[in-house]
Amino acid sequence: MIKTITCIGAGYVGGPTMAVMALKNPDIKFHIVDINQARIDAWMSDELPIYEPGLYEVVKEARGKNLFFSTDVKGAIKEADMIFISVNTPTKKYGIGKGRAADLKYVELCARQIAEYSENDKIVVEKSTLPVRTAQSIKKILKSTGSGVKFQVLSNPEFLAEGTAIDDLMKPDRVLIGGDQDEAGLAAIDQLVKVYNAWIPRERILTTNIWSSELSKLTANAFLAQRISSINAISALCEATGADVEEVAHAIGTDSRIGPKFLKSSVGFGGSCFQKDILNLVYLCEFFGLHEVARYWEQVVVMNDYQKTRFGSKIISTLFNTVSGKKIAFLGWAFKKDTNDTRESAAIYVADQLLQDEANIAVYDPQVPEDRMYMDMEELETRPMDVNKKRLTLCEDAYEACKDAHAIAIMTEWDEFKTLDWQRIFDNMKKPAFLFDGRLILDPKKLGEIGFEVYTLGKGK
Ligand SMILES: NC(=O)c1ccc[n+]([C@@H]2O[C@H](COP(=O)([O-])OP(=O)(O)OC[C@H]3O[C@@H](n4cnc5c(N)ncnc54)[C@H](O)[C@@H]3O)[C@@H](O)[C@H]2O)c1
Repeated sequence: MIKTITCIGAGYVGGPTMAVMALKNPDIKFHIVDINQARIDAWMSDELPIYEPGLYEVVKEARGKNLFFSTDVKGAIKEADMIFISVNTPTKKYGIGKGRAADLKYVELCARQIAEYSENDKIVVEKSTLPVRTAQSIKKILKSTGSGVKFQVLSNPEFLAEGTAIDDLMKPDRVLIGGDQDEAGLAAIDQLVKVYNAWIPRERILTTNIWSSELSKLTANAFLAQRISSINAISALCEATGADVEEVAHAIGTDSRIGPKFLKSSVGFGGSCFQKDILNLVYLCEFFGLHEVARYWEQVVVMNDYQKTRFGSKIISTLFNTVSGKKIAFLGWAFKKDTNDTRESAAIYVADQLLQDEANIAVYDPQVPEDRMYMDMEELETRPMDVNKKRLTLCEDAYEACKDAHAIAIMTEWDEFKTLDWQRIFDNMKKPAFLFDGRLILDPKKLGEIGFEVYTLGKGK
């Protein structure tokens, strides 16, 4: 019987996932721990570190009752019957596998801490997205203590999407739990099934062997990203041929074998997962000598990079082949709407491209703070920070960002951009007033009537 659950990692996955689990399992105590004190402080305040619709309400309801946040990793490990590892697994930036393999140092550290501090038997759950067969390494570390404590390792990958995390957690398409198929493994799977079954029908909780579960997460993300790259590839062809990517997407999406979801063309996918998980898959394929398979999946990332560069190049070529000294307004910096997450956002890369061409960029995003934007640019290491700060500014609202701009680029599909006073924006811009819709959210006809020179991605003339 599970009485206490600990989650290591209070990020975009650990926080919302445990908050919903706590809400639905009032008899279980949930303790979320993180090494980042500021993040924990924010989880305990009214300004959560993560923006997600509906998250605050869930946290408020459970916090202090059966949901607790702290930096006491040791204490939380000791008290738990079940421990979720939900730490970050970024792409490795050094050594073997640099730029491709997942960096598992944070996961390994968690396993070592669990091994060191545990005094009673525990179920350890991989919530982070991990390369297939990571559970083997975790088991090895856990077994090495000689303390007599028994561990079961489960894989329970998270399929939530940022921006809709609470809905996804409340009503998931499925929950996936992988574990050893012997008696102890199946018993551990059963314990976790019970936690989810508090609100999710049993038939939606899939159980598999541990390697299938680990690989399913990477595969799901690869398929999703592949669909985006596929429609983005077609968007380039639409522009060249006079077709309209939205019409093509609708026409193919009505085929029940293809389906309508994830066929929205854009300036390119971002987020912390798609690129890193595909690169990880590519690395795994290469490791197992499957070079053709590796090249196949690599193209999804190549196409995504192409789409971002293509958009930036379109802005430069349309503005008479130079943006030097010109003001370009970016509406949106987050990688998608309804999140403050900017990791791998297309806006970062397009901004970098335009800054190389000496543009001045004024950004407005409803959720992204200034220091986050500068950190994103700093990570690219393209130019000194003072140059980024001189050329790139964050504005209080869209009107300020667009004032005296030569061009506007829609980088994130925030709903509020659809209802801006576009006549007012046009009146305050330099002419000709160019508008580049990288998210296909605006009506090009209406904007054209106001006087804008509109480029909508994937719409051929
Ligand atoms: N973000 C998503 O939409 C999403 C969706 C599904 C799966 N995932 C996967 O979930 C995992 C976590 O992603 P995230 O977006 O929540 O990451 P995140 O960076 O938002 O959060 C990870 C947290 O772990 C903490 N941490 C790292 N090492 C620690 C340690 N040793 N002890 C305590 N805390 C530690 C960090 O301080 C950070 O706050 C990744 O593997 C990711 O691929 C993410």
